[in-house]
Amino acid sequence: MPKPVTIQPVRGTLGILIPGMGAVATTFIAGVLAVRKGLARPIGSLTQMGTIRLGKRTEKRVPMIKDFVPLAGLEQLEFAGWDIFPDSAYEAAVKARVLERGLLDALKDELEAVRPMKAVFERRYVKRLDGPHRKQGKSWMDLADQLREDIRTFRQTRKLDRLVMVWCGSTEIYIEPGPVHQDLKSFEKGLVENDSAISPSMIYAYAALQEGVPYANGAPNLTVDIPALQELAKKKKVPIAGKDLKTGQTLMKTILAPGLKARMLGLRGWFSSNILGNRDGEVLDDPDSFKSKEVSKLGVLDYILQPDLYPDLYKDFYHKVRIHYYPPRGDDKEGWDNIDIFGWLGYPMQIKVDFLCRDSILAAPLVLDIALFLDLAARAGMSGIQEWLSFYFKSPMVAPGLYPEHDLFIQLKKLKNTLRHLKGEELITHLGLEYYDE
Ligand SMILES: NC(=O)c1ccc[n+]([C@@H]2O[C@H](COP(=O)([O-])OP(=O)(O)OC[C@H]3O[C@@H](n4cnc5c(N)ncnc54)[C@H](O)[C@@H]3O)[C@@H](O)[C@H]2O)c1
Repeated sequence: MPKPVTIQPVRGTLGILIPGMGAVATTFIAGVLAVRKGLARPIGSLTQMGTIRLGKRTEKRVPMIKDFVPLAGLEQLEFAGWDIFPDSAYEAAVKARVLERGLLDALKDELEAVRPMKAVFERRYVKRLDGPHRKQGKSWMDLADQLREDIRTFRQTRKLDRLVMVWCGSTEIYIEPGPVHQDLKSFEKGLVENDSAISPSMIYAYAALQEGVPYANGAPNLTVDIPALQELAKKKKVPIAGKDLKTGQTLMKTILAPGLKARMLGLRGWFSSNILGNRDGEVLDDPDSFKSKEVSKLGVLDYILQPDLYPDLYKDFYHKVRIHYYPPRGDDKEGWDNIDIFGWLGYPMQIKVDFLCRDSILAAPLVLDIALFLDLAARAGMSGIQEWLSFYFKSPMVAPGLYPEHDLFIQLKKLKNTLRHLKGEELITHLGLEYYDE
């Protein structure tokens, strides 16, 4: 048997810090509170609902994941966040119009107690948004220090054992990695000099890592996907993960595309269009924020289908992604996909997907899982990029020189094998020849 990795036990309370207390964050917080009270079930959460097979099929050992690895329990979580609007989590959840008012009212006292701290924000990074609840500072570094103070105060006043931070803020404009992002020294100089290639989300990430707090990025912003912050994560021995939660349309894409490829069916084109009317949709209506999202969404098919390896099937397929802001729909997004495929002898066929989803309902359980697994990673002494959490992201971060793994099923296998590895269980290869030996 392989040796298990030493994992610090779960003790005390885990604080979850959330920059951006909008639709996703409040649906997540309210959801955890509702599950705690027995009002609802944590559907969509692998940590809460999932099982893991151990050993041979004949052993019939299939524990729940939360019983197999030591994860913080839902009753051990506390929440805090930042936003440019001073609304409590209750008010923000009511405005987001994701969860029913009756449910929110049943959780009102606890949700009202979660009040955002003043945010680090600059309009040039999220052009369609502005709000009054902001910190003032002499420099980016000064603002980072203020965030660090917020983190320390939250830790002390609530007597928290551990913390994690998950970015649920709006999508910032597209930023190319540049010289200031290349190493920690240049980055810190940039913080002092207010370098415009450093965005607010990077300042939150810097503050978290300096305080030894694991950081995950739920949006497509560059944020921790830069060598400077990865260097800091390694230096401080803190795990990081990102980026962009894999929910609606991209989730479907990474379910369908591996299936087409498994059967060696060809692809001529994939046209994806979305309508959504929440604040996220409004922010993404700005071309610079959309560019961050577009880059995050477009990579998926190339990596899964590998046109270089399969030119007859996937060379030059046409891939287009559109997001349209359409207020009447609120958070209830509709994502259409038209997929032009071809089969035996090149005969064309079409697949149409019309996914009437709820964005934040799909995203909330991912925030929970990411927070719990990042905390597990920290207690297991894992630091830097946590590629085994690719399962949750549209645009997974990977070590330099590696291509990201987008296939949802390979990602799940990787995640579960990582849990087996941590606990010293045999990895599952699905070979299974031994069942047929004489
Ligand atoms: N819902 C999904 O399915 C999904 C999937 C993938 C990614 N995301 C991303 O998650 C993020 C949140 O989505 P949402 O639907 O909750 O959006 P939202 O607009 O409801 O919430 C975002 C919140 O972030 C706040 N904010 C913006 N900049 C900030 C800053 N610098 N500091 C603190 N707060 C800040 C905004 O005021 C807003 O309240 C978006 O970036 C979105 O693209 C969502």
